[in-house]
Amino acid sequence: MRVAVIGGGRNDEHVVSLASAAGVSYAVQLLGWESVALTIDDAGAWRDRHGATLSAARAIALMSECDVAYPALHGVHGEDGAVAGLLDLCSIPYVGSPVRAGAIGMDKWLTKLVAAALGIRTAAGVLLTPDAPAAVAMPLPVVVKPASGGSSNGVSVVTDSAQLPDAIAHARQSGETVLVEEYVRGREVDIAVFRDATGRLRLGSTLEIGVEDGGVFGRDAKYDGTARFTLPAEISSAEDAAIRAVASSLYEAMGCSGVARFDFFVTDTGPVLNEVNTSPGMTEQSQVPRMFAAVGVEYPQLIAELVAAAHVTEPIGIPA
Ligand SMILES: Nc1ncnc2c1ncn2[C@@H]1O[C@H](COP(=O)(O)OP(=O)(O)O)[C@@H](O)[C@H]1O
Ligand SMILES: [Mg+2]
Repeated sequence: MRVAVIGGGRNDEHVVSLASAAGVSYAVQLLGWESVALTIDDAGAWRDRHGATLSAARAIALMSECDVAYPALHGVHGEDGAVAGLLDLCSIPYVGSPVRAGAIGMDKWLTKLVAAALGIRTAAGVLLTPDAPAAVAMPLPVVVKPASGGSSNGVSVVTDSAQLPDAIAHARQSGETVLVEEYVRGREVDIAVFRDATGRLRLGSTLEIGVEDGGVFGRDAKYDGTARFTLPAEISSAEDAAIRAVASSLYEAMGCSGVARFDFFVTDTGPVLNEVNTSPGMTEQSQVPRMFAAVGVEYPQLIAELVAAAHVTEPIGIPA
């Protein structure tokens, strides 16, 4: 088995993706398979494992020589369906969500619309298009964030209306379209889902993130090793069942493939969906591998299951 593991990407989660890709490559090697590492650099150019620049045609040719591609990309031009579309057109089987699910999950506003149509609660929010004035009429506190962001880049809590213009300007640096949401008070609880090769949905343990009241799970806490995770989350069986049902129905409705992580706030009045990550962090220490390890699926086995269930499209393009 030869797996093309794609990392990097032209976005502000480049380094995070390199870590995910390194983890996946390591697992692939532990499984006794060959990993063909490809990187998309900061400028969007493809590079081989030695760092040499490749033409897009050469990168596609290398991936076509593999059995499957594993895009371990996060954020725009990667997680948003762009790379899935490329692989579809080249008839290369891949691990992870196809175009539509990636595009919906990357867009937090679109995710809200799909969730609302399914009767799933999300935070009340307002979308500010790139040219919209930096003002909203919402009770404070609010959370201001890029509509298509990741890794908590550009996210802030606003408790005083005087801070709003700066918070919006800050979010716009990470993505021109901005979401302003009511601050949801609740415990942050995540769950992950994948469809295995037999067609069955597999859910990991719930995971609770320790976030101080009134704060957010910020970029530093995500990656500096100080995040406090509790598995399983200490929630009621009714809350657990509600989260599982919502995650499963969204996985199906969005048309996800591979593993997706569904992030919630568990409030006094039930779970509120925060966001869907169709290409979540995949180092061995990331949330998703921990969620599955907690139910007996160790990291290399998880990668093996995902590869076995790789998404194969009908050939719609000319094979490279
Ligand atoms: N509406 C909200 N209410 C409370 N906290 C929020 C809200 N939106 C985001 N956060 C906090 O900010 C963090 C990052 O926001 P999120 O929407 O998950 O963006 P990212 O895609 O960057 O992870 C969340 O993990 C949570 O701690
Ligand atoms: Mg998040």
